[in-house]
Amino acid sequence: MLILNKTAGVFFKPSKRKVYEFLRSFNFHPGTLFLHKIVLGIETSCDDTAAAVVDETGNVLGEAIHSQTEVHLKTGGIVPAVAQQLHRDNIQRIVQEALSASRISPSDLSAIATTIKPGLALSLGVGLSFSLQLVGQLKKPFIPIHHMEAHALTIRLTNKVEFPFLVLLISGGHCLLALVQGVSDFLLLGKSLDIAPGDMLDKVARRLSLIKHPECSTMSGGKAIEHLAKQGNRFHFDIKPPLHRAKNCDFSFTGLQQVTNKRIMKKEKEEGIEEGQILSSAADIAATVQHTMACHIVKRTHRAILFCKQRDLLPQNNAVLVASGGVASNFYVRRALEILTNATQCTLLCPPPRLCTDNGIMIA
Ligand code: KG4
Ligand code: ZN
Repeated sequence: MLILNKTAGVFFKPSKRKVYEFLRSFNFHPGTLFLHKIVLGIETSCDDTAAAVVDETGNVLGEAIHSQTEVHLKTGGIVPAVAQQLHRDNIQRIVQEALSASRISPSDLSAIATTIKPGLALSLGVGLSFSLQLVGQLKKPFIPIHHMEAHALTIRLTNKVEFPFLVLLISGGHCLLALVQGVSDFLLLGKSLDIAPGDMLDKVARRLSLIKHPECSTMSGGKAIEHLAKQGNRFHFDIKPPLHRAKNCDFSFTGLQQVTNKRIMKKEKEEGIEEGQILSSAADIAATVQHTMACHIVKRTHRAILFCKQRDLLPQNNAVLVASGGVASNFYVRRALEILTNATQCTLLCPPPRLCTDNGIMIA
């Protein structure tokens, strides 16, 4: 094998080590020799059918995703049997698309990784049975993946992060703070006592009928709230953040949802409109809910940072806080967390928004 030395403009016969380095620098194309391990990741834990092909150095070779958001928005929430059917209808196509984009033949895969928990049982089942069938056909190893661990470790694709670090996972189904001490070594510091923040935002968005709002009709509840909040006044209402006296790192969002519902009912009366119509103060309500949620998340995270530093579980300076999950794609929440990390000599790292929401890359 000969390598072109670009500076000298000549070919030379390299050492074995150089050949290896050269091959490692390649992205894969059909017919090209490669040494990297390549994993197909499959995710069906909730309402996204997603697949990706990633190599062991984190190069994303191919990706595909089918979102069910629009269907579930119409039915006013996720109906598990509907989600299951949609996963069944799409999984083969999505896996095929990810593989085609990667230009990797299935026989060249090193393993197949699939979300096995936590999530909706009917949705998880589709990904699992599809994967096991594929594993059997291709005779490849199977890697079972914990969905929350995948969210927590996604940051290692985009940033060099040393263990230990603190992780805040805020999504539609989960809300937790954990100290990540290794790839599968997590110390749980706090969790939601009731619903997750994304679930709360989805419920408020539904109550505000934002699906009928011309600017938000195809957005998830959380995204719609973020979008409208930019036009609203967060001081219009005053809602106290939940659990402000609790001396732990737990969260709660049901109270916030209920108080917001009461405000909405009061406003509907004042504006003389029925449930299902858009309130003129919808943007103010969105801004207030988003702000109160962000304050609550930041206060609980602050407690976790102090706890870890007091016990030397995190370094005193430049400790890393990773925020991930669908709600961490919210820029208001990110800004609030940034203020916290600046004040506590920590560094905030968030995966790009498309890697915060469910995807196949994090599983692979
Ligand atoms: O991580 P994810 O895709 O799925 C779960 O594992 O739950 O998160 C989905 C959740 C939904 O509740 C959605 O409303 C919320 O994340 N979400 C957002 C935003 N984008 C998605 N919440 C706040 N702001 C956003 N921009
Ligand atoms: Zn998720």
